[in-house]
Amino acid sequence: MADQNKFKKVIAHAKEYGYIFQSSEIYDGLSAVYDYGQNGVELKKNIREFWWQAMVQMNENIVGLDAAIFMHPTTWKASGHVDAFNDPLIDNKDSKKRYRADVLIEDYVAKLEAKIEKEVKKAAKRFGDAFDKAEFLATNGRVKQYKEKGDAILKRMGKSLENEDLADVKALIEELEIACPLSGSRNWTDVKQFNLMFGTKLGASAESAMDLYLRPETAQGIFVNFLNVQKSGRMKIPFGIAQTGKAFRNEIVARQFIFRMREFEQMEMQFFVRPGEELKWYESWKEKRLKWHLALGLGADNYRFHDHDKLAHYANAAADIEFKFPFGFKELEGIHSRTNFDLSSHQKFSGKKVQYFDHELGESYVPYVVETSIGLDRMFLAVFSNALQDETLEDGSTRTVLKLPAVLAPVKAAVLPLVKKDGLPEVARKIIADLKFDFTMAYDEKDAIGRRYRRQDANGTPFCITVDHDTLNDNTVTIRHRDTMQQDRVKITDLKALISEKVALRYWLEKC
Ligand code: GAP
Repeated sequence: MADQNKFKKVIAHAKEYGYIFQSSEIYDGLSAVYDYGQNGVELKKNIREFWWQAMVQMNENIVGLDAAIFMHPTTWKASGHVDAFNDPLIDNKDSKKRYRADVLIEDYVAKLEAKIEKEVKKAAKRFGDAFDKAEFLATNGRVKQYKEKGDAILKRMGKSLENEDLADVKALIEELEIACPLSGSRNWTDVKQFNLMFGTKLGASAESAMDLYLRPETAQGIFVNFLNVQKSGRMKIPFGIAQTGKAFRNEIVARQFIFRMREFEQMEMQFFVRPGEELKWYESWKEKRLKWHLALGLGADNYRFHDHDKLAHYANAAADIEFKFPFGFKELEGIHSRTNFDLSSHQKFSGKKVQYFDHELGESYVPYVVETSIGLDRMFLAVFSNALQDETLEDGSTRTVLKLPAVLAPVKAAVLPLVKKDGLPEVARKIIADLKFDFTMAYDEKDAIGRRYRRQDANGTPFCITVDHDTLNDNTVTIRHRDTMQQDRVKITDLKALISEKVALRYWLEKC
């Protein structure tokens, strides 16, 4: 269920601890554009690295690419984005607010889902240990009604959007009596299509300038380079090309913080396969990608698959991995079986052959593609919102802790001299001077030790290393674990191995 208070806390915490700032804040900001602060940039880099290593380093048949953001404008004609990369928009005549028609309907369905969850909670309380959630969902009359109603609404909307029947999308909004969240009015305009690409110009003079688009997805840079990579890398099908980079969309409904941005980063992989084998690979990538998510330990219950009713113009199967954000289950990653649409289309528009000769089959074909596509910023929000917790401790006091997976934490360990004198700061600095070759480290000597621990907890630092007077005699320090708050006395020379064990990419990649 949506938790608006939690979401507000996430946004405030992200700002207070240098993770995310509103872009151009001193000029009152720019809607749906955000900057990453000193901790945010590290967390984002670590997520990107974890994805890159899992996709490229761990798979000998996947290689990387970094294509330019600017692409020849015909790219977007061929990909279908000029004609079909639209969102259905609707205006409320009283509030003058603009909405995505499909989002209004999806929000209505989300309310039905929230009602189901409420029923489940009530029943779980009533039946205690004997409660069987699956059986309850399958048999409870009211829950079944909500579910059937939600499914029917989404199915009808999917069909209407696929058939470009925008009148029916409006009719659905009216039948469901959906009101403008701002004014409460049901005075709606017709539904219209709105293209999401940002246009720009390339060239010195107005007359000769060429119209360009900022790429709305990174995938097309991979498609147009398919033959370059395949030939230069002597790649054999099946193989993949992975890329991370910025994408831009003129989103109509830009809200929910970094969930839906106008400038964002994608991590995409196109996997090229034999025609007819795409659905087998589609299933396999669905499974692999879910495993990658689960490896981070954010909780299996927080993920679910959503199979698409409405397929994009290029797909013959598509599913989202949805994550339970503070505002409910929403798309985190898409896995799409894109057929040979893109490569065939680039072949047609460029007039150049985009084919692969399969030596085993002794024939040429345009490969089929299975794509995995995840928003880096959206993954950031999933990790960050899941990690932020308020805990009541045994002594009744509370702490705010950011339980980031250690591999992703911006700072791996903070070194804290117990007091600012007696040579303790010097020893602390020496420990940092050694460990900084392996880990991002922080030094903090201000305030009482308890306050410093809390600061590092809220910052997401997995380890605090305290240097005290005993350290001067026996070269041992206290290492405190963020999540359990357990403290162990260890030798300085053992610190590297102890931290490594929990933060090394290998430990996390082995779970993928
Ligand atoms: N190449 C396929 C593609 O772009 P998509 O479902 O439109 O598919 C893929 O986008 C992922 O990119 C989404 O699952 C989401 O994580 C992320 N994404 C899309 N639009 C976004 C936006 N406006 N802000 C942040 N992330 C976005």
